[in-house]
Amino acid sequence: MIELKAVNKSYHSKLAKFHALKDINLKVAKGEIYGIIGRSGAGKSTLIRCVNLLERPDSGEVIVDGVDLLKLNPAALREKRHSIGMIFQHFNLLHSRTVYDNVALPLELISIGKPYIAKRVNALLELTGLASHKNHYPHQLSGGQKQRVAIARALATSPKVLLSDEATSALDPETTRSILNLLKKINQELNLTILLITHEMDVIKSICDRAGILDQGGLIEEAPVLQLFARPKSEVAKKFTQSALHIQLPESLRERLQAQVFPNSRPIVKLTFLGEKAEEPIVVSLMTRFNVTTNILQANLEMVGHSPVGMTICELWGTPGAIEHSLEFIKSQNIQVEVLGYVSTH
Ligand SMILES: Nc1ncnc2c1ncn2[C@@H]1O[C@H](COP(=O)(O)OP(=O)(O)OP(=O)(O)O)[C@@H](O)[C@H]1O
Ligand SMILES: [Mg+2]
Repeated sequence: MIELKAVNKSYHSKLAKFHALKDINLKVAKGEIYGIIGRSGAGKSTLIRCVNLLERPDSGEVIVDGVDLLKLNPAALREKRHSIGMIFQHFNLLHSRTVYDNVALPLELISIGKPYIAKRVNALLELTGLASHKNHYPHQLSGGQKQRVAIARALATSPKVLLSDEATSALDPETTRSILNLLKKINQELNLTILLITHEMDVIKSICDRAGILDQGGLIEEAPVLQLFARPKSEVAKKFTQSALHIQLPESLRERLQAQVFPNSRPIVKLTFLGEKAEEPIVVSLMTRFNVTTNILQANLEMVGHSPVGMTICELWGTPGAIEHSLEFIKSQNIQVEVLGYVSTH
């Protein structure tokens, strides 16, 4: 439904040129929710704005529903944009218009008749849970309600694609959840393809099917979300997934942790496993097979979409050879293992 091919974008100032997007290749299938995560300044907004040509790439192709937008003339592009809705962090509502009139605006702009507008707007207000607020003005609404209005407005022209630029970043966690639930609902009910950008892995974790990591203008990693959590490859991916799994080393342990192995040290390892595969069988196997004792320091089970992902931090005690064999054994069990460092046995 969305395809970016070798997209590059630079910003030019008097003094310098800044390469904001570097050779981006990305495909989002119809009906998919695809998330792009990256740190501030990574190029996320630039990327999403290239999908509806709010920013024009310097080179590459931007294909939406089979059409390369860069090849369209201005009139055809205007028309095509009706099939691409967009929502923003700060809602961008018109303050002098009621909820109803905000949602009606995109239809008025393309001269749709009033009876059809009324039918469509009322249906959208129903869908987004705003029916009882239709005559309110934006200043009378909460942040979550404002974002619902923005979503209803984005859907007015029946788009096939919805772009979301940090739509929940200005909202509290509970409101964030309700907006994410709404996005999931419209994705399912309308078979709408959603491309969203965020700097919060929790957003990716709750509603995305696949996700990509944008770092310094490059798409450095992408995977189905569950895989991204279970087997993050880049350091950036590891940091993001870690932050959303809410597991951290105790401060006292972190202070004692050395990066390199040293005599009489024990490794601290992090195990990540998919599904309900509890740590217990592994603990038993390490003992019976290798005479290695496992001391579990922290354990956590989180839902990623509908799948559980478990994470355990533990200390391994045994001879260096036995520990090496244990780590290989754990990997062979399809459990992700990462040695976080070493602590002294004393
Ligand atoms: N119009 C512009 N002119 C010059 N540089 C720009 C412009 N827009 C963005 N940039 C630069 O391009 C880089 C990427 O910006 P972008 O807004 O895409 O990042 P982002 O990932 O969305 O960041 P944030 O999470 O803070 O919103 C930044 O270094 C930014 O300073
Ligand atoms: Mg941004």
